[in-house]
Amino acid sequence: MIAALSKNHQSTYNQIIRSVAIPLENFQDYCFWSSSSYTRNCIFENEKFELILLCWEKDQKTPIHDHGGEQCWVKVIEGSLEETLYKEESSGLTAVNTSVSLQGDISYMIDFMGYHTLENISGHRAMSLHLYAKPIKKCNVFDDQKQAFSTKTLSFDTV
Ligand code: SIN
Repeated sequence: MIAALSKNHQSTYNQIIRSVAIPLENFQDYCFWSSSSYTRNCIFENEKFELILLCWEKDQKTPIHDHGGEQCWVKVIEGSLEETLYKEESSGLTAVNTSVSLQGDISYMIDFMGYHTLENISGHRAMSLHLYAKPIKKCNVFDDQKQAFSTKTLSFDTV
């Protein structure tokens, strides 16, 4: 998959992530869970894309965020994730859609679609593979207390 992503154009990434079947044991070296937050574990990164394994404890959730202007594909490796999409309106943020992705399902996100959250609703640990093209170094994250977005620098828990 990394070789295919490296040598092909971004326009083929949707096809690549859909066609590649990766055995569960191939993720073993990248699995790391934390009770304080879902973890971001770098599998591969170059100037074109990054491939990250997210490891989720039961009920862990992202804040509402955008994708720094980049494309984002999410493939559920184990468990199930609920995605809620938000639109920004004059009255504030409104949830406009909720969907559930099961093992093997793929979802796509880009900033013109709005903001989103992802939540592990499996009832146990979950894992998801995230392909960002190009890599996302910063994004806007909604602060519930301030009721405003702020810029967050993204980092990896393991590399
Ligand atoms: C993240 O990369 O930390 C958030 C997950 C996503 O929006 O794909």
